[in-house]
Amino acid sequence: MGALKDKVAIVTGASRGVGRSIAETFVREGAKVVICGRKQETLDQVAREIGPAVKPIACHVGRLD
Ligand SMILES: NC(=O)c1ccc[n+]([C@@H]2O[C@H](COP(=O)([O-])OP(=O)(O)OC[C@H]3O[C@@H](n4cnc5c(N)ncnc54)[C@H](OP(=O)(O)O)[C@@H]3O)[C@@H](O)[C@H]2O)c1
Repeated sequence: MGALKDKVAIVTGASRGVGRSIAETFVREGAKVVICGRKQETLDQVAREIGPAVKPIACHVGRLD
């Protein structure tokens, strides 16, 4: 516990599956985590479920803008 205290992580594909599990593990270890996926509403729900250490930001990783 606390291995990632004072760290900030960006996890893409974090609205479900492997990415979400990574985000949850990083938060449990003390990190602040930005979660990304294409749908803001889904990310907002995931952030509510994981807790305040998560910031949800929609982002399509295949698009430069
Ligand atoms: N599950 C396994 O056992 C396993 C094993 C080996 C490898 N993998 C690989 O690991 C990756 C994740 O697997 P998974 O099972 O967690 O997949 P998944 O359940 O389909 O989740 C994919 C995540 O990526 C997001 N995503 C998809 N396209 C995106 C884009 N263009 N920009 C931003 N986010 C995007 C999805 O959210 P939105 O749809 O809302 O964007 C979702 O959060 C896949 O590439 C899979 O092939 C999985």
